[in-house]
Amino acid sequence: MSISPKASIVILTGAGISAESGLATFRDQGGLWADHDIRDVATPEGFARNPDLVFDFYNMRRREARKAQPNAAHYALARLENDWPGNVLLVTQNVDDLHERAGSKNIIHMHGALNSALCFECGSRQSWSGDLDQGTICSNCSRPGLRPDIVWFGEIPYHMEDIGEALAQSGLFISIGTSGTVYPAAGFVMEAGMHEAHTIEINLEATGNTLFQECYEGKAATAVPEYVESLLTGLNR
Ligand code: NAD
Ligand code: APR
Repeated sequence: MSISPKASIVILTGAGISAESGLATFRDQGGLWADHDIRDVATPEGFARNPDLVFDFYNMRRREARKAQPNAAHYALARLENDWPGNVLLVTQNVDDLHERAGSKNIIHMHGALNSALCFECGSRQSWSGDLDQGTICSNCSRPGLRPDIVWFGEIPYHMEDIGEALAQSGLFISIGTSGTVYPAAGFVMEAGMHEAHTIEINLEATGNTLFQECYEGKAATAVPEYVESLLTGLNR
């Protein structure tokens, strides 16, 4: 299907796009939720119960993300943003910074980011690269109130209004490397489809969500560059 060059594109990525960069997904074999209980490390209640466990979990993920490198899928999305005539918004559920390091600019981290810390005393946000613990001092209010800037289960994702507006105007919605089990991200394909956007899924295995009009099964580092190439060569037809 050819997409109008004027069409704006919304891309949603999940843990699967970072899998070939060596970062664990959540629900695959050996995924993060196999070794960690979501209730302990990805809920406000878990943080209140045992903050050290949560700090350790995100410190470990921050160190791993720093060691990882963007893969061909991340670079292909940066190329698409650069070369596509219409607007391209990248919404990621991922908290690593591989999209930024691959060159994407127009990014929304709807679940937060490992390289950011949030102060629950004063609400300020600061970029963060090292480990965090209960004694880490907030540079804004000088109190030990920093937590990982991660949206946990039961909390509200970031920039939902901007995402809703972008989906309403999109001509093409591409979902990459996500199991589509967590809302509201899992509902984006329906929102885009309601506004006549063409909807595409690129995933290791098809999620079986029939709201996607096209589905490309395969590894992101292979399938995403191929799809981006087909989109961009379609411009010259
Ligand atoms: P949810 O109830 O929609 O849960 C979706 C999926 O998460 C479930 O299908 C299950 O696979 C898993 N899950 C949820 N709670 C679990 C538990 N206690 N044990 C095992 N698996 C569990 O999620 P929700 O509570 O409605 O949260 C949705 C909100 O939280 C949204 O704002 C979402 O963006 C945010 N969120 C953030 C993260 C994160 O780690 N950053 C993770 C998930 C959800
Ligand atoms: N290429 C493409 N897809 C892949 C690859 C790969 N190399 N490897 C795995 N996948 C697919 C899997 O088939 C699966 O459908 O990526 C998806 C990963 O799904 P999840 O592990 O559920 O991760 P995600 O969808 O990002 O989870 C959503 O749940 O717990 C929260 O905060 C967490 O943001 C995350 C949210």
